[in-house]
Amino acid sequence: MDITNPDLVKIERGDDDLSFREIEPGKVYSRILIDQDSGRIVYELIEPQMEQRLQTVYSKYVKQYMNSGNRSVINISLESGGEKGKKPLPTDIYLDQRDADVVRYYVERDVSRYGRITGLLLDPDVEDISCEGAMKKIYVFTKEYGYIATNVIFNDDNDLNFFIRKIVQDSGKNISIADPIVDSTLSDGSRIQASIGNYVTASGPAFSIRKFRKEPFTPLDLIRLGTASAEIFAYLWLCIEYGSNIMVTGGTASGKTVMLNSILLFIPQNLKIITIEDTRELRLPHENWLSLVSREGIGKNDPVTGKRTGEIDMFDLLTASLRHRPNYIVIGEVRGREAFTIFQAMSTGRYGLATFHAEDISTLIHRLESKPINIPRSLIGSLDAAIVMGNFVFKGETKRRVKAVSEIMDVDSHHGEMTVNNVYSINTDDTFKSSEFSYLLAKIGNRYGIEVGVMERDVRIRKNILEGMIRRNMTTYGEFTNLIFSFYHDRDAVIESFKADR
Ligand SMILES: Nc1ncnc2c1ncn2[C@@H]1O[C@H](COP(=O)(O)OP(=O)(O)OP(=O)(O)O)[C@@H](O)[C@H]1O
Ligand SMILES: [Mg+2]
Repeated sequence: MDITNPDLVKIERGDDDLSFREIEPGKVYSRILIDQDSGRIVYELIEPQMEQRLQTVYSKYVKQYMNSGNRSVINISLESGGEKGKKPLPTDIYLDQRDADVVRYYVERDVSRYGRITGLLLDPDVEDISCEGAMKKIYVFTKEYGYIATNVIFNDDNDLNFFIRKIVQDSGKNISIADPIVDSTLSDGSRIQASIGNYVTASGPAFSIRKFRKEPFTPLDLIRLGTASAEIFAYLWLCIEYGSNIMVTGGTASGKTVMLNSILLFIPQNLKIITIEDTRELRLPHENWLSLVSREGIGKNDPVTGKRTGEIDMFDLLTASLRHRPNYIVIGEVRGREAFTIFQAMSTGRYGLATFHAEDISTLIHRLESKPINIPRSLIGSLDAAIVMGNFVFKGETKRRVKAVSEIMDVDSHHGEMTVNNVYSINTDDTFKSSEFSYLLAKIGNRYGIEVGVMERDVRIRKNILEGMIRRNMTTYGEFTNLIFSFYHDRDAVIESFKADR
């Protein structure tokens, strides 16, 4: 008989709880509260209690199921001392139903789910998970309280190394002494960066997970968060509609990928888009979208090609994808030899969008021009603009902001000098200023025979639509993408419907 005890955990919201979540009814809960001793806000994950005496039974089943092909159905017998026909384990243990359910919970959690962090991954309040080592509290990032310590902890390096190896292997990649750092995507779409052993981090194994958001941030979300203004997005909308080459640049975790994904939503739906990434992060509503993800090889690097057996890198994907004649090529993060190809493509009529790790525009250009990327200055000129992301502290809080939108103006063919126009930049009081003139709008206008004044009016019209959507509270992903689609289908009707608003 298989009766699952519905209440392995009995708990209710406490008076002091700042937040209380039922993650899996009867089994997993979380609460955020102020720790009495430290006075700090902490996160508590609550799971069923497993008594010490059940440990051997648990270990036996973990071993058995880890080695079996089928990890999805876990059966725990009430007589768990030994397997049928075999000698019983030294401890002959008989479980009652509750014991069996608790053991099943933990075996399932550790064999077929994400071990100790399963509850954190399932908690909708948690956005990021970071573990800096064994015997250290895992931290989670929550929208409301920022980074807070949890009661989840790995007991020792072996425990943590084992966990990392398993979670990385389950995601289809490998981590080993030869390759101790991995960046991968979990089956729920979350992105993990992990390292094992003492090879990379002084403190031993560590990992961080950026959880998958069901729906990417839209420009409206970013306007509401203050990341950029409606006018900046209106400008980007126009540039992307007409076709532009834009890179989003900034430091680690400055919001580059989020910004890139949000502006991709402006691409007209009839265009062919190819995205190329090492880990899948970008998501688009377009039907004509092909998503390519690179693949790691196995074994040693081939001395001739420098690659491993089966390896397909971004460069391979990019060269192959150019044959598909995409209108827009999007590269998740430009790092290596694919950079040259994307610049060549951009200079021959394809449009390219990408992120690139550089703190500011001069570093961006410098890195593009130096080893190992080595793009000649004449090709750099095919980049139309860069969106520079940065972290700023306003009123004591760190915010992700567009630091500047910089247009790359023509490269002087005599001196090779390059001038940059900051068409938008952030002020110290968290507002944005714009320059008098946009060279990119003028360039696009030239190409299509449209006067600059008309381009500027088009920016205002789009700004009005974006602001109107926020006013009307039409800010879900679905509402946003629908509006963009209807705009490209019948723009006059959309413009008209927002005029009536004013
Ligand atoms: N404008 C924003 N406002 C608030 N949170 C944001 C914003 N942009 C990104 N985030 C959050 O910050 C984290 C990092 O964002 P993102 O992946 O875009 O950064 P990145 O610069 O691409 O990082 P990496 O250098 O690792 O590629 C994510 O958890 C994301 O949800
Ligand atoms: Mg990124």
